[in-house]
Amino acid sequence: MSQLSPRADASSPQGQVGAQPVLKAQQLRLTYHMEAQKLQVLAGVDIALYKGQSVGVIGPSGSGKSSLLMALAGLEPLDSGQIFFQNTEITQYSEDQMARWRRDYVGIVFQDFHLIPHMTAQQNVSLPMELAGRKQAFAAADQALEQVGLSHRRHHYPHQLSGGEQQRVAIARAIMHQPALVLADEPTGNLDQETAQTIIHLLFDLCQKSQTALFLITHDSNLARHVDKQYVMRGGVLHVQQDDKAASSIENATPPTDHSEKEMKANLQGPAHE
Ligand SMILES: Nc1ncnc2c1ncn2[C@@H]1O[C@H](COP(=O)(O)OP(=O)(O)OP(=O)(O)O)[C@@H](O)[C@H]1O
Ligand SMILES: [Mg+2]
Repeated sequence: MSQLSPRADASSPQGQVGAQPVLKAQQLRLTYHMEAQKLQVLAGVDIALYKGQSVGVIGPSGSGKSSLLMALAGLEPLDSGQIFFQNTEITQYSEDQMARWRRDYVGIVFQDFHLIPHMTAQQNVSLPMELAGRKQAFAAADQALEQVGLSHRRHHYPHQLSGGEQQRVAIARAIMHQPALVLADEPTGNLDQETAQTIIHLLFDLCQKSQTALFLITHDSNLARHVDKQYVMRGGVLHVQQDDKAASSIENATPPTDHSEKEMKANLQGPAHE
C-alpha cells in the first residue's frame, strides 16, 4: 500500500474531480473542559466523504476517533470548524434540525451501541423508520436483523443479548433505512472473525449498492483493508495512510518524468508534518 499525501485534505479523490462530497468537514476543533483541565482532542480535522466511498480511521486508543465521529454526527459541540452535508452547512443547525438530519440521512453505530434498554431488538432497529413515519418499519427491521444473523433474537431486550449480538442490532439499526451516510465506531470490535466477515460484506454491499458513504473507525486490519481511503488520527488531526484510488491512478499513469518521480518518492517517504 502506498503512503501518499501525508496530510488529509478535503479535496476530491482521484476520479471524483468535481464531485460534491456527501459530508465535508473543515478545520474541526474540539476541546473537553474539566474542572481545571482542558483537553484538546481535535486540532483542525479536515475530511471529505463521497457517495459510495469508504473511509477508515485508525489510531491509538484515546487519540480522538470516537470524538470525531460524535462531532461529525453533530453530537459533540465544536470549538470551531464547519461541517457540510451535500453542500449545506449543518454546523449552524438547531438541535431539532440536527436530529431530523440524523434521522433522515445518517446511520450511526456507536462504540457502546446506545441501544434503548426497554425495547426489543426488533423495536430498536425499527425506531429510525418509525420516527420518520415510514410504513413497514417492523418488516424492514426483521429483514435487517436477518442480514446480521439475528432473526432468532428479535424479541430479546439488549440485556438479554451478548455484546456481539448488541453490536449487530446497532448495525442493523444504522443501515436498515439505507442512509446516505453511515458513521460506525469499531463495528466489528466485538465479533468473531466469521461474523465480522459477514458484517464487513454487509457494510460494503450497502456502500456499493446504495452509494452510501461509509466512515469507519476500526482496529480490525481485515476491515481496514477494504476501505478506499484510510486515515490515522494522530495529534488531533487526520493523516492519510492509504488511498487506493490515488494509488491505482498512479499505477496506471504514464511513466513519471524525473521531476515527478522525485516528488513521488518524497511523498512515499512518509509524513512531512510530524
Ligand atoms: N466527555 C469527555 N470529557 C472529557 N474527556 C473526554 C470526554 N470524552 C473523551 N474524552 C477524552 O478524550 C480523548 C479521546 O477520546 P476518544 O473516545 O475520542 O478516543 P478514541 O480514539 O475513540 O479511543 P478508543 O480507541 O479507546 O475508543 C481521551 O483521552 C478521553 O479520555
Ligand atoms: Mg473510541
